[in-house]
Amino acid sequence: MNMSYVARLEEQTGLKFDPAKLPRHIAIIMDGNGRWAKQRGQERTVGHRAGVEALEGVVEACRNLGIGYLTVYAFSTENWSRPAAEVGTLMSLLSEFAASKLLRLRDNQVEVRVLGDLAGLPVLQRAALNRLMAATANARSGGEGLVLNLALNYGGRAEILAGLKKAAAELSPRELQELSEEGFGAYLTTAGQPDPDLLIRTSGELRLSNFLLWQLAYAEFYFTEVLWPDFDAAELFRAVCAYQQRDRRFGAAPV
Ligand code: IPE
Ligand code: IPE
Ligand code: MG
Repeated sequence: MNMSYVARLEEQTGLKFDPAKLPRHIAIIMDGNGRWAKQRGQERTVGHRAGVEALEGVVEACRNLGIGYLTVYAFSTENWSRPAAEVGTLMSLLSEFAASKLLRLRDNQVEVRVLGDLAGLPVLQRAALNRLMAATANARSGGEGLVLNLALNYGGRAEILAGLKKAAAELSPRELQELSEEGFGAYLTTAGQPDPDLLIRTSGELRLSNFLLWQLAYAEFYFTEVLWPDFDAAELFRAVCAYQQRDRRFGAAPV
């Protein structure tokens, strides 16, 4: 954790940060790119471009705050139903991001993983993402660094169903009978990672839109009206400080 960075954000926001209550894993539904562009009289795709910039800023902020895992919803299985031109731009931005940010992410100790059906993406995007994942696979070192999960062509129900089929194919009937919740987690795309502690959704929408349905069981939710392209380090800091005020009981009686 970069303490002078934290001090600067405390001053900027007037909020107090508690280093002992850091979320291990933050999940974000990056929403509102289209509305952001519309407010400026621009095409929706302009908003998506600005959204990529915002993501870069938030990744850097997570590194400075010492967050271990960041999962961002970048493209849902339902997003294929958008106009072909918009889907095309999103795909181009994806391969552009994968190629142009590769070295910077690796040098910044960010390991990129993809959650979702990679095989269902166009071949160019698939290749760019495979390169990005391979190049950053060992980017974290000495307990330092960030895992960045890109949820792409992702749907929560599809993930659970795929995990169920995988478990059924690999396990004996007896093992399947005895499979625990924790054991089942190993069949999901987030295997080996802690569940998100904090879920953020921008743009004022109050729904999950099929995101991490299993993993978010006990996450704290933070909704903000801020549109994704305007979501910066200070906004992330506000969300983390709000999270630190929550009383996480996990079903136990309050102390
Ligand atoms: C989020 O912004 C980006 C993606 C879903 C890919 P939107 O494109 O959903 O923007 P709004 O919600 O229409 O404003
Ligand atoms: C959810 O946002 C998916 C992503 C942010 C990638 P949407 O804008 O697609 O969700 P809905 O349609 O408002 O539920
Ligand atoms: Mg939206």
